Amino acid sequence: MRTITFAIDRFDGSRSWTQSFAFDHVPGMTVLACLIRIRETQDPSLNFTASCRSAICGACAVRVNGNAVLACDTMLDDLLEEWGQDTLRIAPLGNFTVISDLVVNWDEKIERLRLARPGLHARAEFSASGGCRQSPRDFQAIQKQWDCILCGACASECNKLADSRADFLEPFTFTHASRYARDSRSADSMLHVNGMLDNGLWKCVHCMECATKCPKHIQPVEDIASMRGMATAGGRTDGPGPRHAQAFRTDLENTGRLNEVKLVPRTEGLLSAATRRLPFTLRMFARGKLGVGEAIHLFFADNRPVEGIDGLRKIIRQRRRDH
Ligand code: SF4
Ligand code: SF4
Ligand code: FES
Repeated sequence: MRTITFAIDRFDGSRSWTQSFAFDHVPGMTVLACLIRIRETQDPSLNFTASCRSAICGACAVRVNGNAVLACDTMLDDLLEEWGQDTLRIAPLGNFTVISDLVVNWDEKIERLRLARPGLHARAEFSASGGCRQSPRDFQAIQKQWDCILCGACASECNKLADSRADFLEPFTFTHASRYARDSRSADSMLHVNGMLDNGLWKCVHCMECATKCPKHIQPVEDIASMRGMATAGGRTDGPGPRHAQAFRTDLENTGRLNEVKLVPRTEGLLSAATRRLPFTLRMFARGKLGVGEAIHLFFADNRPVEGIDGLRKIIRQRRRDH
């Protein structure tokens, strides 16, 4: 009989340790079924949360070997094949405060979710008509975002959030803000976008972890992009984020290639770039990462448009029309 081991991160409120539980392999078990079996047969003090067992409630998300998954929707056999080993590390979600073992604190996350002003603030005409109907086409535009089950997998793996929770929000918060901002019935889309603007809308580092980890195939990173577009269209173009996006687009539109050396002064302003980035640039020179000749060449790089630039410009124009 094959033996599987779960090495589980434990926490009792003051002490942390890793405890290994070995059990016989039975084909067709989910990660949640394994955890339940461990609790029922080996250690009744093991804490984790779950409810629906059908990928609906979002309560059972945990990390397996450093990747957030829904325990009730993840087959043990798939993991064994993916990792090629019979020992798996089970841990609570990252970027959450742990309460006990695999149980994390959602209270603080829900407080932060309020910044999205979740809830429909409908246009006045709807109160007059006594209904709040929406065409199937308009609903389809936000249907994916409605699928969010608040499991926290995206927040667990978000690299920007891991860097700092002080100036960025959980990816699902952007998804919820986008869902209401883009709802055809909303009275004021910017009501939902403004809270995001003040809390890191331009600080996502595009690591794509939220998009690859979401069990519902939602892409919070795309919701961030669409709200950036709404903010820019609404005249909120101050700050390095919008300037960076504009410089990026100008480069692509003009030549089809990015000049990353010029991107920094155009984003941060010449004086700020010169003072803030100079020590870093000098370190690059000192360590041989960048030669003076190479820097000059990069700065005055070939500005002729690449072959096929007309096609690229057409795509950019089309995207602009779509938004
Ligand atoms: S793409 Fe942005 S929001 Fe998504 S996980 Fe990475 S940093 Fe976070
Ligand atoms: S966006 Fe996806 S991963 Fe994030 S909380 Fe919602 S369902 Fe979970
Ligand atoms: S138990 Fe509800 S989503 Fe897993």
